[in-house]
Amino acid sequence: MNIFKKKVHKIDKENLPRHIGIIMDGNGRWAKKRGMPRALGHRAGANTLKTIATFCDEIGIEALTVYAFSTENWKRPKGEVDNLISLLAEYLSKAEEELGGKNVVIKVIGDLKPFSDDLRRLIFETEELTKNNTGMTLNIALNYGGRAEILSAVKSIIKSGIPADGLEEKHIDEYLYTKGNPPVDLIIRPSGEMRLSNFLLWQCAYAELWYSDVLWPDFTTKHMLEAISDYQKRNRRYGGV
Ligand code: FPP
Repeated sequence: MNIFKKKVHKIDKENLPRHIGIIMDGNGRWAKKRGMPRALGHRAGANTLKTIATFCDEIGIEALTVYAFSTENWKRPKGEVDNLISLLAEYLSKAEEELGGKNVVIKVIGDLKPFSDDLRRLIFETEELTKNNTGMTLNIALNYGGRAEILSAVKSIIKSGIPADGLEEKHIDEYLYTKGNPPVDLIIRPSGEMRLSNFLLWQCAYAELWYSDVLWPDFTTKHMLEAISDYQKRNRRYGGV
């Protein structure tokens, strides 16, 4: 048995988080520490995503949602925004090799209106190519904001004509980008920040939060196992006793 398999045996396969959210933070600081441009930090972060998504699929996680570009990230210098978007396009165009393996279903969630037709076509093609896969769903949040997502769900609900008195939480679930995925069980944020930053606000109502000082490009399967193992020690009471 190799070391990797031994470590995986430390987690309880019957009590895995079904849906994990990751705020992939710290790419810029990782690059700065090495005297490199921030763009290389994002590229290193994208490589980490490949490792972690592949690993999550292998151990049986049902859904992984990663924050790649928030509605607030437009405030960054244009060069960095352009770089992030072209990096994403590069990875999407080789999705099967570079984003979690051949079995993963890839979805890009967020408001895609501001992006070019080319990028939207690439997103559509990637989703089509992977939609019949049978493994984990990898949601890549792009131009994503939790409040904007809830607002858009509310608008769609009003348009659908559901009467206010008949409205239930499950209706909101059905209009979110993550429709069909289980609720988020675990949110991971590396790099020492302890905020949700407008990520999956509705979906993580009862999520366990796990933080670490490690910067995202340095995040490994060892950290993922640590996060899952900590999650398995939590006593989830959902408001009960
Ligand atoms: C936050 O770190 C990270 C982002 C805004 C971008 C995350 C994107 C990637 C990891 C690449 C995604 C690629 C694919 C293929 C989905 P930061 O830049 O704010 O770091 P800092 O806080 O150290 O400056």
